[in-house]
Amino acid sequence: CSARAVGRHQPHAETQRMSFFVAMCCIASLLLGMPCFSTVRTSRKPHNVASARAQVSCRKARHAQKRLRFNERNPMSRKPLIAGNWKMNKTPAESVVLSQGISNRYSRKWNKVDVVLCPPTIDLRSVFTVLDFDKSNIDVGAQNCHWEPSGAFTGETSIPMLKDVGAAWCIVGHSERRDYFGETDSMVNKKVRALAESSFNAIVCVGESLAVRDAGDAVRFVCDQVRAALAGLDAHEAEYCTIAYEPIWAIGTGRTATPEQAILSFVSVKQAEEIAAAIRATVADLVGEQAAANMRVLYGGSMKPENADGFMACPNIDGGLIGGASLKVEDFCGLVEIASG
Ligand code: 13P
Repeated sequence: CSARAVGRHQPHAETQRMSFFVAMCCIASLLLGMPCFSTVRTSRKPHNVASARAQVSCRKARHAQKRLRFNERNPMSRKPLIAGNWKMNKTPAESVVLSQGISNRYSRKWNKVDVVLCPPTIDLRSVFTVLDFDKSNIDVGAQNCHWEPSGAFTGETSIPMLKDVGAAWCIVGHSERRDYFGETDSMVNKKVRALAESSFNAIVCVGESLAVRDAGDAVRFVCDQVRAALAGLDAHEAEYCTIAYEPIWAIGTGRTATPEQAILSFVSVKQAEEIAAAIRATVADLVGEQAAANMRVLYGGSMKPENADGFMACPNIDGGLIGGASLKVEDFCGLVEIASG
């Protein structure tokens, strides 16, 4: 199951101890006749894998675990999520270097956070291979998918294809896809539903333009996007969704306030929390209070270690969807450290 990374780093002492533990688990699993036990990452409890799923492939077992983890989570203590959206950056060779750099910084403290790397589609296999080999408990996600499982859709990638290369997450409805590639609310909804039906985690992006914000219409606009994206989902399917609030005018602009800045043209923590709370209320209206309490809401838009503290302290913000800063090992790992508390 665990693929071998080319040019992997020397494991440090803790990793070696973990490897020894995993090796002992593998032997125990063979003796006990539990085929999937040996594939479980060290930080995840083997008893979480339902016995009915014991015969499925290693990757499918990992998806099953993700689902159990969501179900069992205490709704009042949502686990933070830091996801890196690499956008159209990094060749497959460069993606190995970046993911290896991030994986090298992995520490046990990171178990308090869900960390996801979303490279370009062509890099998914390489990144998954690096992370899987290191057993660093970091997941891989895609930046887009098609809602059909296969067919005549030139240039598209289906959810079964993403699963096959180890992805467990998919970003949907990013403003760049909506603005540059004509993705509509209805297409976003088809993708979100297809992902939930495939037990695949969706990071659903919403966010207003500066014109909408200036017109005082941001809350209504964003909540309408949430309603459209989650239409037709039941509470159970909604468990696969995370919402990322990304004000379009703050993406890649640096227009996100550090605690010292009180300039009106910057996104303030207060504004972001106000929208995140409205998103949660909308989700409650759609699929119920419990599902809304469980659902993670992220902030995205020029988030970096210097301004992350304020966002992470907000009651309704559970992490970040990171663009530019996810391409720098120091910055991305710094954000994970902040989210680890
Ligand atoms: P930046 O962090 O570069 O502003 O990008 C945010 C984003 O679009 C993440 O999806």
